[in-house]
Order: sequence, then C-alpha cells, then structure tokens
Amino acid sequence: MTTRSCLAVILAAGEGTRMKSNLPKVLHKIAGLEMVGHVMNTARAAGADALAVVIGSGAEHVRAAVAAFSDGDEIPEAFTQEERLGTAHAVLATRPAIERGYDDVLVMFGDTPLVAPEALSALRARLSGGVDVAIMGFRTDRPNGYGRLIENKGVLAAIREDKDCSEEERRITFCNAGMMAIAGRHAIDLLDSIGNQNAKGEYYLTDIVEVANQKGLSVAAVEASFEDALGINNRAELAEAEAIWQSRRRFQLMLDGVTLIAPETVYLSYDTDIGADTVVEPNVWFGPGVRVGEGAQIHAFCHFEGAVIEAGAEIGPFARLRPQARIMENAKIGNFCEVKKSRIEPGAKVPHLAYIGDAVVGEKANIGAGTITCNYDGFNKHRTEIGAGAFIGTNSSLVAPLTIGAGAYVASGSVVTDDVPDDALVFGRARQATKEGRGREMREKLEAAKKAGK
Ligand code: UD1
Ligand code: CA
Repeated sequence: MTTRSCLAVILAAGEGTRMKSNLPKVLHKIAGLEMVGHVMNTARAAGADALAVVIGSGAEHVRAAVAAFSDGDEIPEAFTQEERLGTAHAVLATRPAIERGYDDVLVMFGDTPLVAPEALSALRARLSGGVDVAIMGFRTDRPNGYGRLIENKGVLAAIREDKDCSEEERRITFCNAGMMAIAGRHAIDLLDSIGNQNAKGEYYLTDIVEVANQKGLSVAAVEASFEDALGINNRAELAEAEAIWQSRRRFQLMLDGVTLIAPETVYLSYDTDIGADTVVEPNVWFGPGVRVGEGAQIHAFCHFEGAVIEAGAEIGPFARLRPQARIMENAKIGNFCEVKKSRIEPGAKVPHLAYIGDAVVGEKANIGAGTITCNYDGFNKHRTEIGAGAFIGTNSSLVAPLTIGAGAYVASGSVVTDDVPDDALVFGRARQATKEGRGREMREKLEAAKKAGK
C-alpha cells in the first residue's frame, strides 16, 4: 500500500441534457446510489485522502448530495465551475485544494461510475514509479467520440479529441478514458499551461500530455477495461452500467458463499450485505439498507428496503419488508406479508397475509393469517407489543396502541382495542347465533318471492 498523499478531483459539472431529466446527470442512480457517490467511494477505495468535487453553478442538488457523503470528519469539498470552459478549466476550479499539496492528484468523472479502484491504483503506481502524468486508456472497436491516444515510438505523445483528429488518427482504437493521475508538484503548472486552441475553443485537460512532453516531463498510458471507462450520457447507457454493476456484485456474492439460484433476476443495492449459506430464490429486489445474516432462506418474489434479516430466518415468497423491519434469528415471514418498523423476535412466525407495522412480535409468537396491526389513525402511528409465545388468531385487528401479554390467546376474528394480560384468552367478536331450520325457511321464502315476480 502506498503512503503517498492523494487528492481526487471529481468533475461533475455535467450538462446532462441527453438524460432528458430535471435531475443533474451525476445524481442518477446505479444500484440505488448516485453515480457521483459511486465515484467518491471508488476514489476512497483507491486511497484518496481528500475529495474535491467540481459542480456547475446553481447545482445545489449536487452540492447537497456531495455534502451528504461525508465519511467521519472528512467532508468532500465542492467547488463551483462558474462557466463551462472545458475539463482543464474544471479541474482548476479546485485550485485551492490542489495547492494544499498532494503527492498524487487523481482526476475522475462523475458520470463514469464503474471505474474500479484497481484501475486508479494502477495510475498512482506509475506516479510512484517516477512518471509525472499517467493517463487511463482503453481499447474499443467503436472509438467515435472519444479522444485518441497518439503514440510515437512507444511514447504517449498527445491525446487528440475526436473532433480534432485527422482521418488517420480517427482510425486509432486506443482511446482516452478521461481519468488520469498527475504528480501533485507539477499539477498547477501543467494545468495553467493548457490553452484553448481547438475545435471547441475549450481548455482540454487532455492537452496536458503535450504540455508535459514539452516541459520534458514523463507521460505514460495505462490500459484499463472498457467498463472502467464507460461514461453515462443517456438512460440506455445508465441501464447498461446498472447491468454491469449488478452482474459484478452478484458474482462477488456467490464467491462469498451466497446461493443465487437465478442470479440475473436478483437486484441488489450498492450496500446489500448477505451472509454465507443464505439461499436467494429468483426475482428478489434488495433496495438500499438491507442486511441478511447467514443461512437465511429468501423465497421468490420478495421486495426489501432498509430491513435486517438475521441468521436462519425464512422470508417469502411474496413478502415485503419495509424500512426498520428486523426479522430476528429463525423467525419466519410467509407469503403476502408486509412488515414495517417492527421487530420480529427469534422463532416468531408471521406465516401468511398479514400487516405488521410499528410492532414488536415476541419470541415464538404466532400471528394468524389476515392479522393487521391497526397502527395509524390518520394522524399518528401507534405501537403494538405482542409478548413471547402469544397466539393471535386469524383475521384479528389489533388496534394500537396495544399490548398483548406473553402467552395470551386472541380468538380468531377479534378486534382487540384493550390491553391483554399475560396468558389471558380474549374474544373480541360477536357471539355466534345458530337458528335450527331457519336456513331452509329463508331459502323457500326467497324462491317464492322470485317466482311471484317480485
Ligand atoms: C472526455 C475527454 C475525451 C475522453 C472522454 C471519455 C476531454 C477534453 N475529453 O470527452 O478525451 O475520451 O471524456 O469519456 O477531457 N466537465 C466539467 N466542466 C467542463 C467540461 C466538462 O465539469 O467545462 C465534466 C463533465 O461533466 C464530465 C467530464 O468533465 O463529467 C467530461 O466532459 P465531457 O464533456 O463529457 O467530455 P467528453 O467529450 O466526453
Ligand atoms: Ca462524457
């Protein structure tokens, strides 16, 4: 591990018009996390000590998203690029950060979310080996639109933007991924030496290669994968990046001991954590904030967000766990159940067709089909506490606030409005009335009325 200090400059002053969106491009999400969030995570994983994010003027959404990304005491700094005058100009918007002095300055793009930390570390490794500017390149059969890496006798001589390429240069398939590492001690001087004499009249960061060569500094290209370089410009590319991200993460989970029977049908979030020996059946959605312990069973067609599923629990099929649902060890949530902000304690069962919200279901309690915690009165949410080993009969309405004691029995079809002591039996329903022969009498009466045309 290198001990060199590192500043990551992340360019996120995106125009974003091709997304056809009111949302700035870098705030579109992959696996539930904003693209710029992925890039910030990756910068940290590549060893960046500080993050400087360049945003466009008026991009208050982006500023807020960046600020929300603080990690302990380090808050990423946002710098505003008032006018969009090119990528070199954008990097210089972070001048005060660069001037603090870092060994390495990494330049990354907020719309290139799949770059792997290893690809950035490879750039930094070249700097520690004595190179002054290390450029990330990639090979593609469709180089249109990308800057080309122009090599001369094995030396990287220049990067030529697509619009400025000659016919011959346009055939080059070794392209600029956009990211680079610059030796911190030369960064300001190099950036200040870049001009805007090109087809677009912009200050191109890519000109750093020629400028460095002119100054007698050393430049190198480091090859990365196409995925590392994948920049997102529209929603089709967003979906492509999502698919790549998902397949990488599924693969990793499987290597870590999780069984995914049909991996391509399981959707994960950036922070999904699943323990070894858990089996996930097809068609399961993991929203943000879900943690699953070891040896759990997740049956098909479940939808989870912000939920914790502990070891050995069994969920679904067709279960929905909402934020702050905590399903403890060996508890069971069966089909067509919804659980929100509730703790289902070890070994408790909610096997079918129930809504449990703002509740505690005690150890080994059993909740019958059709049971509803009536937690909301139109204004406030109220809590239901069900003691250990309680048995709630089917189709019961538990009107919160409510406490049902340990070992209590609630008869089927009850509407329970008053607290129930431990071990009590409660009936909250009308008594059954049975009238002998009255069924036949009623049928005959109705039949006669129909015949009479009434
Ligand atoms: C850039 C590279 C090109 C490379 C391609 C890879 C330059 C000049 N060109 O082209 O060689 O092949 O990426 O995807 O670097 N930005 C700002 N302020 C600006 C201009 C851009 O913040 O004034 C940001 C954009 O939001 C984006 C990034 O810089 O995140 C790249 O800019 P973009 O205009 O997308 O450059 P490309 O034409 O894709
Ligand atoms: Ca781009």
